[in-house]
Amino acid sequence: MAATATVAATAVAAAVGAAAVAAPPQATAAAPAEQQQQRQQQQQPVEFDSSRYTLHSQGAEARVWEGTFLSRPAIIKQRFSKKYRHPQLDGKLTASRLKSEVRSMLKARKLGVHTPVVYHVDHATSSIYMERVQGHSLKTLLHGGQLGGTGLEELLVSVGRTIAKLHDGGLVHGDLTTSNMMMRTEDRQLVLIDFGLAYNSTIPEDKGVDLYVLERAFASAHAEEGAAMFEKVLEAYRRASRQWSATLNRFAEVRMRGRKRAMVG
Ligand SMILES: Nc1ncnc2c1ncn2[C@@H]1O[C@H](COP(=O)(O)OP(=O)(O)OP(=O)(O)O)[C@@H](O)[C@H]1O
Ligand SMILES: *[C@@H]1O[C@H](CO)[C@@H](O)[C@H](O)[C@H]1NC(C)=O
Repeated sequence: MAATATVAATAVAAAVGAAAVAAPPQATAAAPAEQQQQRQQQQQPVEFDSSRYTLHSQGAEARVWEGTFLSRPAIIKQRFSKKYRHPQLDGKLTASRLKSEVRSMLKARKLGVHTPVVYHVDHATSSIYMERVQGHSLKTLLHGGQLGGTGLEELLVSVGRTIAKLHDGGLVHGDLTTSNMMMRTEDRQLVLIDFGLAYNSTIPEDKGVDLYVLERAFASAHAEEGAAMFEKVLEAYRRASRQWSATLNRFAEVRMRGRKRAMVG
């Protein structure tokens, strides 16, 4: 049974990680009519030609491919279905998340935040084709230690200002980590990526949680230096955001709740 084979392959892929999923999506043995039906039910990729791209990474809901789009370096983020969700609901969810991610990227850009340029959105394969940012993630840079004092300082200030721009514009990123921030080599600009969890909000609590997620990310990925780095980010945020007061009050509360939870275990 082709359907069983597909499910089994997915389970294996989930178990062993990215390596196993590099096989082309069309490599199942289903008969054409059956395949067609499966695709319609699951809103699965119709003609995403994975042979033209190399798999970069595999997240919980998306595969990220590297290649070119109209001869430009591109990243293709392809959302896939979750087998445990009802097929129709799943299709709708995938479609709405795709749209939301694209809208958020465009909105961030309008607010003056650097994001990858969206080249193309393919609803049939639930894929976003975007500019491939040439550079390194902040996580890598902060670990590398080759930034130098002023370089590091500038970068952290830039993080604070960037988040302030997003928040003042009513956009919450939803997954602020140092992996989701890149420094473009060419112009040393900070570029935010992964707007998959971003949403519209002007509520201080939402912004406070956004900052808290980043604080945790600094603490867990950058050890003792993490706290001092985050303080710089927060200082720049405070100076740049018009709504800093309400947001930072909420942030303090969110942080307190987090600590209590950590103590209780
Ligand atoms: N536009 C881009 N330019 C360069 N690299 C990118 C770009 N988009 C994504 N990447 C790389 O691919 C990785 C995964 O992308 P992204 O975070 O958008 O996917 P995701 O499935 O939401 O990941 P996760 O599940 O880890 O949050 C990023 O950490 C980054 O290394
Ligand atoms: C945020 O709201 C604006 C205005 O209502 C809307 O156009 C946009 O699509 C929304 N963005 C997201 C990510 O939902």
